[in-house]
Amino acid sequence: MTQTEFERRRTFAIISHPDAGKTTLTEKLLLYGGAIHAAGAVKSRKAKRSAVSDWMALEKQRGISVTTSVLQFEYDDVHWNLLDTPGHNDFSEDTYRTLMAADCGVMILDAAKGVEPQTRKLFHVCRLRHTPVVTFINKMDRPARDAFGLMSQVEEVLGINTFPFTWPIGSGDLFQGVYDRIHKLVIRFERSAEGQSKRAEMKVTGLDDPELDSLLGEEAATTLREEVDLLDGAGEEWDEQRFLAGEITPVFFGSALTNFGVEPFLHSFKGLCPPPGPRQAAGEVSVNPADDRFTAFVFKVQANMDPSHRDRIAFARICSGRFEGGMRVHHYRLGKAVRLNRAEQFFAQERESVLEAYAGDIVGLYDPGLFRIGDTLSTEGPMSFDAVPRFSPEHFARLQLLDPLKRKQLQKGIRELSEEGTVQLFTEPGREKDPVCGVVGRLQFDVLIFRLEHEYGAKVSFDILPYHHARWVDGVGGCDELKARRIPMAVEDRDNRPVALFRDEWELHRAARDNQGWTFHETAPIVAAA
Ligand code: G4P
Repeated sequence: MTQTEFERRRTFAIISHPDAGKTTLTEKLLLYGGAIHAAGAVKSRKAKRSAVSDWMALEKQRGISVTTSVLQFEYDDVHWNLLDTPGHNDFSEDTYRTLMAADCGVMILDAAKGVEPQTRKLFHVCRLRHTPVVTFINKMDRPARDAFGLMSQVEEVLGINTFPFTWPIGSGDLFQGVYDRIHKLVIRFERSAEGQSKRAEMKVTGLDDPELDSLLGEEAATTLREEVDLLDGAGEEWDEQRFLAGEITPVFFGSALTNFGVEPFLHSFKGLCPPPGPRQAAGEVSVNPADDRFTAFVFKVQANMDPSHRDRIAFARICSGRFEGGMRVHHYRLGKAVRLNRAEQFFAQERESVLEAYAGDIVGLYDPGLFRIGDTLSTEGPMSFDAVPRFSPEHFARLQLLDPLKRKQLQKGIRELSEEGTVQLFTEPGREKDPVCGVVGRLQFDVLIFRLEHEYGAKVSFDILPYHHARWVDGVGGCDELKARRIPMAVEDRDNRPVALFRDEWELHRAARDNQGWTFHETAPIVAAA
């Protein structure tokens, strides 16, 4: 029973740069999954300045989605869990950590722009875990870059091989559909009169069908045959093992807005996206999703989702066994048993109580302050998954408390917010009173200031520091030694590990060159041990 349930799970996240079409594609996937009934449901919420994860006053104020939510839908006998990642320009470490909970990534590229900076960063995180990535090249109904050029850009910039599963027939006004290389079919799309809300009709013929010339026009048909010959001539075979190891990405072309290519994509994606697999735990233990033992790890803690209750929700990814509401589990870091009451699953803004869930599923656990990112929960005795790493922040600021009487509130606030992962907290030896905060996206400073004031009553100002890279340093005695070796700024993280801050890559390379005995790490594990 458990086995068939987890085998039906597909847990994935979308990685993209803002405006590439994540919201639009998500909406279309939900439409096919029957989870929503009219296109525009996701968008109109966005338009109303309250995106799917509408949990914080600040989000409403800014009209953006700061937090990450989980969407579920059923399609083609599969239970899909889509881990939604913030789409705004400024994103947080949450986005990175969410990818730790996914079994597959869908990389959306804008066909006119190709690989953009945020896609690159998120791809890098997938790479760290060898997460397989499927590519969807969107907006083919608009003038696009040459398809071969896009393939080489992905290969060069991201260092991953590409294997087009579909190939576009024209682009912009001349976009006529795609050729499905796997099934050797031409799939022609027609723009539906009602625009986006209807499933696009598909007409299918073979590539050598003489009808093709009259259907597509002679020129388009000839170009298609030539391009497909070129692709086939390259002789690359589809290799599923390389895909699962994150070495090759299958590529699909389409247009989410006009529904071109979404259904064939989803259909193929079902076969590509792996079901939950084994996960590594401490002590060289591999946890199999089919194990009877329940195991899960917390990858995100979200505060105040419901402003009327000052509660926190810990999002846990189930790795094996079956979850039941109210079950007792061992909490590894605390070294004691806890009861998992009030577990919830999420669809858009609605929460539903979960009675049972399986490997691959994400559950939101009511958190009275018990959970931290990286915590492992399990039945049958202590065990711990490999920690969820902390990533190098890209912006740093020194906080200054405006009302000295609120120091306790400030300390509580930054401690809790750093546990939640909103910011990373550092201290500079000798200046402990003015903590240094690091964030991935600049917007997080605003979130921090807003929340410190509104939730903890501590008003602060901040001075932006000129650093953009943090490296956890192994092989060094402490901050004094870092300073003595001309490291631009030396701080300690909350576990007292020495961290070096650099303005740019040049400074970083120089420090690595001059201090060969040290190792510089881009990520630091969260200490989850009891
Ligand atoms: P994001 O979540 O990745 O940030 O992107 P989103 O889906 O919001 O799409 C960004 C813009 O691109 C939207 O237009 C959207 O309609 C458009 N778009 C998405 N997919 C396609 C596509 O396949 N073809 C074309 N032509 N456009 C596409 P907008 O004008 O910014 O927003 P809206 O007014 O449509 O809401």
